[in-house]
Amino acid sequence: MIDSPSTKRERDFVQQGDTHKSGSQAHKSQSLGDEAKTWLKRDANVFLHQALSTPVMNVLHSADGAYITDFDGNRYLDLHGNGVHNIGYNNKEVASAIIRQLSDELTFVPRRYTSRVTVKFAEKIVGMAPEGLDRILLCPGGSEAIEMAIMLAKHTTGKWKTISFWNQYHGNTFQAATLSGNEHFTTGLGPMVPGAFYVQYPNYYRNPWNINPEETEKIDECYLSEIRTIFKHNPDIAAVVGTTIASTPCIPSSYFWSEVRSICDEHDSFLIFDEIVCGLGRTGKLFACEHYVTPDVLVIGKALGGGILPLAGILTRDEYNTVSDFSIGHFTHEKSPVSTAASMAMLEYMEAHRLVENAKAIGDYLLDGFRQLQQFYPCIGTVQGKGLLICLDLIKDSTSKERHPKLANAILTYGLEHGLSFKIIDTNVITLRPSLIITKEEADFILDTFTAAFQQNNDQIK
Ligand SMILES: Cc1ncc(COP(=O)(O)O)c(C=O)c1O
Repeated sequence: MIDSPSTKRERDFVQQGDTHKSGSQAHKSQSLGDEAKTWLKRDANVFLHQALSTPVMNVLHSADGAYITDFDGNRYLDLHGNGVHNIGYNNKEVASAIIRQLSDELTFVPRRYTSRVTVKFAEKIVGMAPEGLDRILLCPGGSEAIEMAIMLAKHTTGKWKTISFWNQYHGNTFQAATLSGNEHFTTGLGPMVPGAFYVQYPNYYRNPWNINPEETEKIDECYLSEIRTIFKHNPDIAAVVGTTIASTPCIPSSYFWSEVRSICDEHDSFLIFDEIVCGLGRTGKLFACEHYVTPDVLVIGKALGGGILPLAGILTRDEYNTVSDFSIGHFTHEKSPVSTAASMAMLEYMEAHRLVENAKAIGDYLLDGFRQLQQFYPCIGTVQGKGLLICLDLIKDSTSKERHPKLANAILTYGLEHGLSFKIIDTNVITLRPSLIITKEEADFILDTFTAAFQQNNDQIK
């Protein structure tokens, strides 16, 4: 891979994002073929370089179901999928719905018009959403949906400040990047959106107070006190914005989110959940908030377009249908009949194939398998997960919990060499987010490959 100044920046800043440098190294060890190298070079020559997306590490030839295949014919079970492949790549029913819509000769609806397909989709998803979330607004991308959520909160509450969590990615527009609390996305840009406060996202295993991770309520109180303190000194908080279950993933307790809900209620502030990744079946519920409490705004995206088209949006309460005099979205493609036809097909596919149930069943099976593996390999400091959102935090020793990036990279290299593609976060956290269509056999393949990877890397483990 061609090195670039952005590679250095990536090295310096990246926490929440994928260290695709590690992916590149792993791919290097597989020595890409000439054709792949040519396309990598052409890509790097034409695209503006930016950390995490250009230059890239490999070239795909096809993506189908739960798998991606590169130009050298290597097929990988994709345990990352950028959060879009919940119902699988290249889903035939979504593709057919798109083609049907194209041949219906309604491919775009100008502003101030609507279409049957878009209204039907909106009614369908609102009908599936937690009780009380009765209104929807659509837009092309997740970052834009986050913007709409915050604008709605500011208009409705008449307040303007925000509380979000350090190092939780919410997108890369100015407001979304501000909320993300990660210097990787804000350095060099001067003042971001004012009024942003940050608190730590609950991580029981790595809580900074060294409280026994089992004592979740005690740890929660420490995290919650940060939020309470900010509210105490700022009567003008419009919203608390958080990922319901973070991609790392850290699984907040029910107590944590129910307390945050109460704090928001007490102060007439919004609770906004970002479910752009953890929504749409990923955690074994259609919406991750169903494990917890109903937010004022639920933000969805990524897999919403069926893994083919971009679509995102916010779901909110009827009582917040309050901004008729302003525009908080107003995006050209907000009512795209083609994208909403794809989304309708995605929801129908998910229902017909019981993918939410599958995410729970296979997720539980994988979690159990990884926890058994942990008994043999103490370098797996903790295994966390909900449905098919799972992580393994790799450590050098269980007392210091020192992160083990070298081992994580060695496991990634082994995975890529044996047909598994996944992502490392925070330098040492292996994050697994397979398609929700995976079978028990594929779950066994994942477990067997990880078992073999840990066996082979025994020397790193000691
Ligand atoms: C949790 C989360 N929120 C928001 C976004 C932004 O979505 P988009 O890339 O569609 O703008 C992302 C994208 O990765 C995300 O992971």
